[in-house]
This record gives sequence, structure tokens and C-alpha cells, in this order.
Amino acid sequence: MVFLPALNASLNASSAVLLVAGYVLIRRGHRRAHHWAMVSAFCCSALFLVGYLWFHFTHGIVAYRGAGWHRVLYFAILIPHSTLAAVIVPLAILTLIHGFRGRFDKHRRIARWTLPLWLFVSVTGVIVYFMLFA
Ligand code: HEM
Repeated sequence: MVFLPALNASLNASSAVLLVAGYVLIRRGHRRAHHWAMVSAFCCSALFLVGYLWFHFTHGIVAYRGAGWHRVLYFAILIPHSTLAAVIVPLAILTLIHGFRGRFDKHRRIARWTLPLWLFVSVTGVIVYFMLFA
């Protein structure tokens, strides 16, 4: 089942693209399209989480084999990536809820944190994949 990490990385990359698209769309005033871009980004990240947990339940932890500064770089990316990945779950849900309920003041305030953090987690997820599996 080696395809699963590649699929998971693609889901992360898709989230990143959808988040950027969603941001551009709301800046241009396309509320409906922003809504669907962000809901799709959330679905990609949720599917990623399922695939990630599935892979680790079936394969255990995959240790990084690199050494020297590559290893330092790997952990310098992995540690904030994993920490923020846990933070982003409640943040993304709260941002969506405020959006769905039309509480756009609160939505906007929290979304300004959610968006960059989520983007960071998605992009570093792809980097971690290439460092581990490529
Ligand atoms: C977790 C997913 C979402 C994220 C990360 C997100 C992100 C953002 C961001 C960063 C802004 C502020 C843009 C700016 O700087 O002007 C914004 C505004 C907005 N979002 Fe979202 N959004 C999400 C989901 C949604 C959903 C589901 C809806 C609709 C149901 C929605 C509706 C809006 C609207 C109407 C605004 C404009 C608010 C205003 O100008 O006062 N968003 N969103």
C-alpha cells in the first residue's frame, strides 16, 4: 500500500491550492465560490487525516533515515507541522461554523489565523512526504 502516502500528499497539496483559491475568491467578492473552495479544502484535509491514520495503523511509524543537516531540517519542519496540525482541527471547524452561521465578523477575525496556519500545515505536509518517501 505504498500509494497511500502519495495520495495523502496529493490531498495536502489540493488543500493548499483550494485555500489560496478561496482567499483570492473572497478578496474578489465571490462569496459562494469562497464558501465551496473552503468546504472542499476542509474535505481534502479530513480525507488526508483518515488516510494518514490508516497508513500509520497499518505500517507504524516511518523513521526518517537522513543524517546531518538534512535530519535537523526534517525535524525543524516536522515539529511545527505536527503541533500546528493538531491546533488547526478546532480552528478550522470554528471558522467553518462562524461562516455557516453568517457570523462574518467572528469568522473573519478567526479566519485570519486559520488560513495561514492551515496553509503552513498543508505545504509542510507535502515537504515531509518528499523528505520521507521520495
Ligand atoms: C475554514 C474555512 C474557511 C476559511 C479558512 C475562510 C477564510 C476567510 C478569510 C481569511 C476571510 C477574510 C478575507 C479578507 O481578508 O478580507 C474570509 C471572509 C469571508 N468568508 Fe470565509 N473562510 C472559510 C469558510 C467560509 C464559509 C464556509 C463561508 C460561508 C458559509 C465563508 C464566508 C465568508 C464571507 C462571507 C467572508 C467575508 C466577510 C466580510 O467581508 O465581512 N467562509 N474567510
